Amino acid sequence: MHHFQFRNGELYCEEVPLREIVQRVGTPCYVYSHATLHHHFSVFDGAFSEVAHLTCFAVKANSNLAILRLFGTLGGGADIVSGGELFRALKAGIPARRIVYSGVGKTAEEIDYALSQGILMFNIESMEELEAVNARAAARKCRAGIALRVNPDVDPQTHPYISTGLSKNKFGVDIENAVKAYQKARTLEHVEICGLGCHIGSQLVRVEPFVDTMKRLRILLERLDGLGISIRYLDLGGGLGIPYDRESPPHPSEYAEAILEELRGLPCTLIFEPGRVIVGNAGILLTRVLYTKETPTRGFLVVDAAMNDLIRPSLYGSYHQIQPLRKEDVQTRVVDVVGPICESGDFLARDRELPVVSSGECLAVMSAGAYGFTMSSNYNSRPRAAEVLVKDRDWFVIRRRETWEDLVRSESIPDFLQ
Ligand code: LLP
Repeated sequence: MHHFQFRNGELYCEEVPLREIVQRVGTPCYVYSHATLHHHFSVFDGAFSEVAHLTCFAVKANSNLAILRLFGTLGGGADIVSGGELFRALKAGIPARRIVYSGVGKTAEEIDYALSQGILMFNIESMEELEAVNARAAARKCRAGIALRVNPDVDPQTHPYISTGLSKNKFGVDIENAVKAYQKARTLEHVEICGLGCHIGSQLVRVEPFVDTMKRLRILLERLDGLGISIRYLDLGGGLGIPYDRESPPHPSEYAEAILEELRGLPCTLIFEPGRVIVGNAGILLTRVLYTKETPTRGFLVVDAAMNDLIRPSLYGSYHQIQPLRKEDVQTRVVDVVGPICESGDFLARDRELPVVSSGECLAVMSAGAYGFTMSSNYNSRPRAAEVLVKDRDWFVIRRRETWEDLVRSESIPDFLQ
């Protein structure tokens, strides 16, 4: 469910015609629907209302301060993977006690920052990291709350680049060695064992891999309990998929039901780290057709958004629905939608049947709210796009478009070249 709908042949976000945003803000531009964000967060969070839980939004999916603030006001926390994401989450007003910190390569500086702010827990991904967190906490004369992120060796049946819970992946401590790892953690004076975590992958469209993971974690929890190691927080990560095309992922309530069935009777508070399922279909990317072009073998729409704005099609071959802002009864054509970047891999869609459009017209690239802006870059010295948040009849620029001046702001020319 989302609030991007056609009315009288014109695409709206909530009560705002997208044409208005294009005219005032220009393209490329990300547009998010407040009502959709609110709804998705509440549906996900509400699906677990019968148990103690905390929904920690995965900041990597969309890290705009306004969006983080919204989830914070709805009672959400944050799943972070860097000092920069911690900075953003705190700046957005998310309390440190609602922040969990994942990631295989936390630096000493980042660990110190997280300790100084008093986050809820570090999701530890290796034995060396465990020692490092203990050492940093010792230096600060405090104790770090930790969970071990366990790699359950479950196939999430998703794109290999976004599978994380197989034993060949770099993530987590393998489940066979998890007990040993907890026993080691128990001997360290400056860590406090408080959780067990996992995250098996992203864009999962079936519940089975989640259920298999729960079964494995449950066995581990029982073994830990037998050793007198009690786990207060069980962090189940994120990963629930969304429909981009014809996928039909489980509704959050089905996901919740399947998980809660496996975990019945456990005394833990559950933590979730959803990203895509909350923001994915709550955002779109607006772009303008610069040129139409025919070659003997193909038709191209050259648009002003590129792989630097939305890299998912180039990187994963991902499908994003594309539609003109005006729905008219015109013929369709099979085209490639490509950006201005000097790489053949710079495309938003290939072999796509689209209504015939002329240069100057605008298109909406749908389902771009997750891993869209956050994965954007300045490649080809292209300023990054603006971001707009729509609420009912109002809209707000929540990130201004970058300027050429912004591109060079941090650079300097050494004296010898002056
Ligand atoms: N927790 C951890 C530890 C993660 O690594 C991730 C995503 C999440 C939570 C959130 O997963 P979600 O609910 O969004 O599936 N750039 C890729 C997705 C990479 C996901 C990385 N980790 C894409 O555009 O599809």
